[in-house]
Amino acid sequence: MPQSSDQPTPPEPSAAEPAPAIVATPRRQAALQFAAAFCVLSLAWPYFGLRNEEMPWPATAFAIGAVALLFASATRQPWWWRLIHLAFAPLAWGVAQLAIDPGWFLLAFMALLLVYRGALTGQIPLYLSNTATAAALAELTADRRGMRFLDLGAGIGSVVRPLARARPDARLTGVENAPATWLAGRLRTAGLQNCAWRWGNLWQTGLGDYDVVYAFLSPAPMPALWRKVEAEMRPGSLFVSNSFAVPGIEPSGIVELDDARRTRLFCYRR
Ligand SMILES: C[S@@+](CC[C@H](N)C(=O)[O-])C[C@H]1O[C@@H](n2cnc3c(N)ncnc32)[C@H](O)[C@@H]1O
Repeated sequence: MPQSSDQPTPPEPSAAEPAPAIVATPRRQAALQFAAAFCVLSLAWPYFGLRNEEMPWPATAFAIGAVALLFASATRQPWWWRLIHLAFAPLAWGVAQLAIDPGWFLLAFMALLLVYRGALTGQIPLYLSNTATAAALAELTADRRGMRFLDLGAGIGSVVRPLARARPDARLTGVENAPATWLAGRLRTAGLQNCAWRWGNLWQTGLGDYDVVYAFLSPAPMPALWRKVEAEMRPGSLFVSNSFAVPGIEPSGIVELDDARRTRLFCYRR
């Protein structure tokens, strides 16, 4: 059973918190990897060149990985980024030995883009709300008869599809901009009369027509999304963010689910 609290949650004490990590944007991570490669190659190339010896590429790749790990640790990147930095150059060297036609890499990249476009363009990857979350949303909005509900970045319809079935009185809308997920959601919601499935950018979707707006995105867009919510959502409407709180804003309530993920729905009444 979900537990809800209408009391604002007190902020966590911050005195003992470590200094925040330098923000891990993809561009910064690429620069970090490039810097490690530049450091190692600018030493290794002249060294082996002057000795007239062939470059030992496997050792060089591991050295780049080690230096990248050092840089990632020094800039306090999350642990998974440190692992990626350590493994990237050795793996790139290993894959190069397989002599695979580059066209396959382009194909794989395009296939990933069809599903994970949001991760590349806005640091919003695809992961899905579970059935417990959809049930909790139905319960949370039970008193809003005839509500207009919007899922911003609707994935494959994991929320709007069960809600449309559970709430025939409501009008559900899902907006999604990754081609493959949009198509999956379109097929999954076809035939549901009270469900509109739209291709679109969440940042260009007006929020003023909706009673409840739901988002399950990532920490990265939350400050900008909150500015949009404040500017566009009407008084009395409800913004619900799965797992990611709006930094610096007290939710009007938090719904805690008893599921394996320990899902938390941060609710902000306008
Ligand atoms: C974490 S998933 C959540 C999916 C769905 N709301 C759910 O709860 O199951 C986030 C979704 O937002 C989509 N997305 C990312 N950026 C978007 C954008 N600018 N406009 C529309 N959708 C976007 C992604 O493609 C992804 O499907």
